[in-house]
Amino acid sequence: MAESHFAIVLGTRPEMIKLSPVLRACDRRGVSYTLIHTGQHYSDELDSVFFERLGLPEPDYHLDVGSGRHGEQTGEMLAGIEDVVLTEDVDVVLVQGDTNSVLAGAIATSKLDAELGHVEAGLRSFDRDMPEEINRVITDHVGDYLFAPTEESASLLRDEGIDESRIHVTGNTIVDAVQAHRNIAAEESSILDRHNLTSGEFILMTAHRAENVDERDRLADLFAGIGRVARELDYPVIYPIHPRTRERLEEFEVTAPDTVRLINPLDFLDFLRLEDTAAIIVTDSGGVQEEACILGTPCVTIRESTERPETVAAGANTVVGTNPDDILAGVREMLSTDGDWENPFGDGTAAEQILDIMVGTDG
Ligand code: UD1
Ligand code: UDP
Repeated sequence: MAESHFAIVLGTRPEMIKLSPVLRACDRRGVSYTLIHTGQHYSDELDSVFFERLGLPEPDYHLDVGSGRHGEQTGEMLAGIEDVVLTEDVDVVLVQGDTNSVLAGAIATSKLDAELGHVEAGLRSFDRDMPEEINRVITDHVGDYLFAPTEESASLLRDEGIDESRIHVTGNTIVDAVQAHRNIAAEESSILDRHNLTSGEFILMTAHRAENVDERDRLADLFAGIGRVARELDYPVIYPIHPRTRERLEEFEVTAPDTVRLINPLDFLDFLRLEDTAAIIVTDSGGVQEEACILGTPCVTIRESTERPETVAAGANTVVGTNPDDILAGVREMLSTDGDWENPFGDGTAAEQILDIMVGTDG
């Protein structure tokens, strides 16, 4: 497939981060690609800041889709991606993760004369109430190249009857991204000073999942729980708040406890620095669960399930839901760990392995 022309689709913060190693590897190898930005994320703090800090190339096409209902948003992206794939005579479309941008790329490609590669294939929470779970399952079932981060993800794909020839275990590109930026973050980020934080003496929190923040009672529970954690540990909580959650707090008139400092979303280097130096991370993010595990920082996941069970098996993470007692118990449990677990997500060569498979080792 050495002559193939690729389209790489991204639209949200985690896709920009996790595809950055793939884009760099393509540039290094001279692989020809068209970069499509769906516009699912558009606020500077979720979008342009990542292009700048990660040195990503300007998208060749910007679909400017923005926010909307699932069908509306996905449908508009689907039509836009279809146009680009036809116009640019694309051979292979690459998507990453489980957002609506991924689903749109997958469905558009599956009806065209192009192949689909899915980076981060085979993750399952087994909770079909999550829009991300629907997106993952559909994408994997129409994908031609499924890049599973772990053997466990690969075996979940096999359990669904997916042919072995489509499955490739590569590790997760987040390891590549963390390795590329961890030391730079330690040298360049001034986030601890800017917020008067001491390494090892603060709690980092993120929450943005629809199932948590779109329900008033769960959102209130979550803040009650984190407030109790802050009181017991006598540490401040720093929470770079996703715009979706900021809107819900206002709508539901929920106020965060005084110990919780709400700040704007951060660029990757500042956020990575916080993850690397926090005493503990409390999150509902998929990517943050992985990064905590890679960096050796204990993690408490405020969800009912995780599609990253490898982090729990490694001893790096516990999944507690949003009940305040359970959040506190989870933090106590995880603070007694030593951070000395094995990273299950690969050796930081996922992007290179993906390109070896898609364009060959001499590509
Ligand atoms: C999306 C993904 C989620 C992923 C997350 C990463 C889906 C179904 N969800 O969730 O899996 O974990 O991105 O962060 O694809 N908003 C802004 N500015 C923006 C984007 C969104 O203010 O740039 C606000 C809007 O009010 C919007 C809301 O956030 O309605 C939700 O945005 P949306 O893209 O629907 O989902 P996310 O919660 O960002
Ligand atoms: N992240 C960031 N700044 C922040 C919060 C998160 O750079 O203020 C990064 C984080 O390091 C991770 C990714 O965003 O790589 C996770 O994105 P998010 O939690 O929005 O989505 P998910 O991984 O749950 O899909």
